[in-house]
Amino acid sequence: MTVAEPLFGSLLPDIVTSPPGGVSRHLAKRLRSVESRNITYFDVGWPIFWKEASGSNVRDVDHNLYIDLSGAFGVALIGHAHPRVVHALQAQGEELIHGMGDIHPPVRKVELIERLCGIAPWVDAQAVLTTTGSEAVEVALKTARIATGKPGIVAFRGGYHGLTMGALAVTDRAHFRSYFEDQLYKGVSFAPFPECNDVSRVTADETLGLLRAAFQQGAPNGDPIGAVIVEPVQGRAGVRIPPDGFMAALSDVAMEEGAMVIADEIFTGLGRCGSMLASERLGLRPDIVCIGKVFGGGLPLSACLSSQSVLSAWPENDGEAIHTSTFLGNPLSCATALAVLDVVEHLDVPERAEVLGSQLLSELQDSLRGAERVSEVRGRGLMIGIELVTDDGSPWKGGALRVAEAALAQGLIILPAGEHGHVVELTPSAFLTEDQATHSLVVLSSIIQKIH
Ligand SMILES: Cc1ncc(COP(=O)(O)O)c(C=O)c1O
Repeated sequence: MTVAEPLFGSLLPDIVTSPPGGVSRHLAKRLRSVESRNITYFDVGWPIFWKEASGSNVRDVDHNLYIDLSGAFGVALIGHAHPRVVHALQAQGEELIHGMGDIHPPVRKVELIERLCGIAPWVDAQAVLTTTGSEAVEVALKTARIATGKPGIVAFRGGYHGLTMGALAVTDRAHFRSYFEDQLYKGVSFAPFPECNDVSRVTADETLGLLRAAFQQGAPNGDPIGAVIVEPVQGRAGVRIPPDGFMAALSDVAMEEGAMVIADEIFTGLGRCGSMLASERLGLRPDIVCIGKVFGGGLPLSACLSSQSVLSAWPENDGEAIHTSTFLGNPLSCATALAVLDVVEHLDVPERAEVLGSQLLSELQDSLRGAERVSEVRGRGLMIGIELVTDDGSPWKGGALRVAEAALAQGLIILPAGEHGHVVELTPSAFLTEDQATHSLVVLSSIIQKIH
């Protein structure tokens, strides 16, 4: 009996030329001259240019083969180019590529929204399809404003909700805000985000007290507060995990105050954190949920979900929708999203994420115990963070980028996270093979143990 060779998607890294190779460097030069300098990050060891991807593998233009532990910004939870997604894309491409979302909608839009409502936590669920995560957040904020009549918002320190103006107003990172601070809505109160590990030095009870005070005082500009927006696990802030019971208590406070809870599940949702929605697992009871990333299977698609009772606050369309866009309900991305939901539901992706995530987490915790630069390894499902510190225990600014560059040279794609770029973030596919997982952990642990 012959043993089948692993296929592209399940392979171990193969670095044939030190990345970035000559073709990547040449493309970098071309790109630098035509793209705004703020967009792509260039450094000696960065970037590589992708040629093809499947499962957990990426091949660059210099024929280097990598394992993608980033899921490409957390999107590829079911792997790159899952066969069902590719098939759906091809079939839909033959039939209809673009439709008229809010005027003469494509069939796939109906099918997708019906399906989506089945995973929402309300019996009378409805949804608005959007294109990017930021746009889903815009719809959520507008919905809460219309439904409560109160424009003020509570958001959390470290929270990331996107970079369009409405979403940026609730995103807490000076790096993204500073140039636009004077244009951002001033009715946002930022509360500390308590963490189960105490790093935030604020307890859940203190935060809840601050929240109650914020509701009493109103937003900084005096507006009454009508919404709380929260990531169940803060992703880009460096995989920050709330203490048990905090999310449930947050829902109680919001309900008592007549405010809506917006769960930003753009990163955590659709199985990433070990359940279809992370809110379920953490006891958060949202009025509005945003999803994105995994949803489109690699095509740009997101959604804002809520109940009919909330969404009915929007007026009936009188011929001109108040919030819509050219590509709303794009048939290609609706078709791939239907395939993604098939895979997530039928191949038990949340459970896989939970099992694989727990295994990776405990192995990393073991192998990095005592490592000089590591203060903590934490995670929920397949969202794992390795926090790096300097000698005096403060966040190691830029440390995770150093690790990411060293990892790339050895065939692992990872991304830095955290306000100081001090957290190594791992958000791989739930179909990472055992060999790929073992290899990645050995290489990554060795890099992190040696780096200083
Ligand atoms: C929690 C969360 N919300 C919103 C966004 C914004 O999504 P997008 O980049 O698709 O606009 C992100 C992106 O990383 C995110 O992690």
